[in-house]
Amino acid sequence: MTYDRLDPDIMPNLIEPDTERLRLRQWRPEDRAPFAAINANPEVMEFFPRTLTRDDSDASAEAFEGMIVTSGWGFWAAESKVEHAFIGFVGIKPVPDDLAFAGAVEVGWRLARPYWGRGLATEGARAALRVAFEQLGLNEVVSFTAEGNRRSRAVMDRLGLRHVADFGHPRLPPDHALHRHSLYRVTVQEFGSQRGTH
Ligand SMILES: CC(C)(COP(=O)(O)OP(=O)(O)OC[C@H]1O[C@@H](n2cnc3c(N)ncnc32)[C@H](O)[C@@H]1OP(=O)(O)O)[C@@H](O)C(=O)NCCC(=O)NCCS
Repeated sequence: MTYDRLDPDIMPNLIEPDTERLRLRQWRPEDRAPFAAINANPEVMEFFPRTLTRDDSDASAEAFEGMIVTSGWGFWAAESKVEHAFIGFVGIKPVPDDLAFAGAVEVGWRLARPYWGRGLATEGARAALRVAFEQLGLNEVVSFTAEGNRRSRAVMDRLGLRHVADFGHPRLPPDHALHRHSLYRVTVQEFGSQRGTH
């Protein structure tokens, strides 16, 4: 079952998951500047074709915010409960139409550099997967990243996603260093059988 075949009657209005250390919430105007700083950082954007301009970053935040308005879920703004600061995004959203596995929902993340190495991406993504499986009733969730993105692939491993395929990204030419991507997947049964670990 994919997200667009969900019964609208069971769709909640606005989902904003909470974890021990994170609040995943709707985007606010004051998130735009720190999000632009994250997207302008070459280390954060190492596995993307380029860093983002302020306009591109704002457009991206606006798109994420719009999806949460219409669906109640998406790539949420992630706020640290400890520092009370916006630290990036974590969430779930439909796979872009130009990818072979479009129709599925992906789990994704991007955090400001000072917040790496604390388990926050995994903690937030686990809450996002719980929404996907327990509130939206999805059967599976995917994730993908450039083959060389070791940190992101480690998050997928920690979450219990399985590496199922490699593919060439259709928006990047075959000779581009980031062309090759790895696809991961977790089913509701696999996620459920991890119970006790999340
Ligand atoms: C991908 C990304 C979110 C990973 O962040 P991360 O902090 O490495 O991932 P996690 O949240 O799972 O944290 C795990 C690390 O925190 C450590 N850690 C510290 N305290 C922890 C705790 N309380 N619980 C769990 N892990 C903890 C773990 O040991 C691990 O350390 P290691 O990297 O030395 O092995 C981050 O690198 C990023 O934003 N990258 C840029 C954007 C990007 O590439 N996004 C994906 C594109 S598809």
